[in-house]
Amino acid sequence: MTARSPEAWEDGFIRTRDISYKHRYQLLTALVVPRPIGWLSTFSKEGNANLAPFSYFAALADTPMLVGVSIGLRDGQPKDTLRNIRDTGAFCVNVVTEPQLEAMNTTSGDYPPDIDEFEVAGLPTARAALVDAPYVETCPAVMECRLFKEVELGVAANRLVLGEVLAVRVRPDLRRVPGTYHVNANSLRPVGRLYSDSYAFLGEIKALARPETR
Ligand SMILES: Cc1cc2nc3c(=O)[nH]c(=O)nc-3n(C[C@H](O)[C@H](O)[C@H](O)COP(=O)(O)O)c2cc1C
Repeated sequence: MTARSPEAWEDGFIRTRDISYKHRYQLLTALVVPRPIGWLSTFSKEGNANLAPFSYFAALADTPMLVGVSIGLRDGQPKDTLRNIRDTGAFCVNVVTEPQLEAMNTTSGDYPPDIDEFEVAGLPTARAALVDAPYVETCPAVMECRLFKEVELGVAANRLVLGEVLAVRVRPDLRRVPGTYHVNANSLRPVGRLYSDSYAFLGEIKALARPETR
């Protein structure tokens, strides 16, 4: 079956096996939006710090507290982040907020393994307390994670890395919803990724009570 061009979708029904991998990527990243960005910091086994963003990123469970990140291969080889997680069993997730957007983008470059993206982006490094990983000291919210499981995704050139969040660092000046552990979103100012190089910021926040069915 020949791949259909992007113009060939007039009937509004696209069978995903009929389009190219590039067009599947474009559709997926345009429709699953906005995606949170897990900005992952790791150490190599030689102790070099590494930092890179991943928007195939999601919250998966609360007990144990699990997050998942899907890391693509590069030229058939694991990216530095995946190799480091395999070697150390650890990573930190730095929540990307508005003031850090450009620094986050800088760290997405394809740097050699011995290049410290913290230095490239001018970010201060600190060491996690419970896992063998660095984190962005100025990041308002950070999760310290231990590798829970690595999952192959069929023939996909991606590996799903599940991390158990052992500790969370929240900058004390962040506001909370009174009486809860909800970090006030306007105080956090998270950034979401759309497709390609576009990002979304918080707009109007609307509260909606759940239906009372029991
Ligand atoms: C906002 C953003 C989100 C990204 N999301 C992913 C992702 O989910 N999976 C992935 O493999 N690469 C993703 N990338 C590309 C990686 O950040 C890039 O390949 C980086 O060089 C990997 O670094 P590393 O080799 O140090 O691990 C993303 C890039 C940007 C800018």
